[in-house]
Amino acid sequence: MKFLVLNGVNLNMTGRREPSVYGGETPESINEELRIFCAEHGHGAEFFQSNSEGELCTQIQNAEGVYDGVVLNAGAYTHYSYALRDAIASVRVPVVEVHLSNIFAREEFRRKSVLTEVCAGAVLGFGKNSYKLALESFWL
Ligand code: DQA
Repeated sequence: MKFLVLNGVNLNMTGRREPSVYGGETPESINEELRIFCAEHGHGAEFFQSNSEGELCTQIQNAEGVYDGVVLNAGAYTHYSYALRDAIASVRVPVVEVHLSNIFAREEFRRKSVLTEVCAGAVLGFGKNSYKLALESFWL
């Protein structure tokens, strides 16, 4: 199978921003670990990050027929982007929502995701392992 790991707004700053919340590893090193993790299980992974809501929607729209699943950390868009929610609901490719941190143990505004309802599932609070657990859900 082939997966798309899609990271949204500010996730290019992982490793540099609030390391006590998001960890100290760079996106490049996390992505390489995820690529190896998928390869070890006979799967492929591609990676895309954007700070732009529209670009993330376009990636989701284009994922149908190309990827077997999408792992999405939408960053703060999680909490209010109806555009991303509609994009996810528009395609038949399963999308698993991911967060590095446990959004339900943080500020009030983070305790709501407008995406979960249209996602196949959600994994949160396990740092970079949230991505691994989400990827694994496609082949377990
Ligand atoms: C995040 C949680 C969001 O609330 C935050 O805006 C992020 C990262 C996470 O991975 O824990 O940018 O999605």
